Amino acid sequence: MDQPMIDKLNEILRHEWTGVAQYSQAAFVVTGLWREVYNEIFLESAKESFGHARTIGQKIAALGGVPTIERNQVKQTDDLHEMLTNALEFESMAVKHYEEALAMADGKNRPLVVLLEEILLEEQDGVDQFTMILKDPTVAAQAKGGSASKVG
Ligand SMILES: [Fe+2]
Repeated sequence: MDQPMIDKLNEILRHEWTGVAQYSQAAFVVTGLWREVYNEIFLESAKESFGHARTIGQKIAALGGVPTIERNQVKQTDDLHEMLTNALEFESMAVKHYEEALAMADGKNRPLVVLLEEILLEEQDGVDQFTMILKDPTVAAQAKGGSASKVG
């Protein structure tokens, strides 16, 4: 049993569970003219995180480990700009996690490398999409001073 790999995959699984909760809440509470657009984007992101959690959790079990049910702190806010900034930060962290796991699996477990690479592409796409959305000046202009952000 490759315990360091299982631990790394569980770190990733914790991150993906965080995404399920964080994106879902953002979708629930987003308001304003563009609610329909962002409600959809955030729900799709929550589904993507669940899909990744499913793949990684299944792999942890297959490797003989116990898939975690824990998650990290969720960044909560009712401000759209902050939601998008949190989303970009979340996707960037995901890229980092998958790159680290890939470095560990490289040369040892080819199927796992392929699995991680496929997810890595989707995480990078998330980084690209949220980066481009955040270039919209109207999104930036929606940033409120002293928004009701919290963590939990
Ligand atoms: Fe993910």
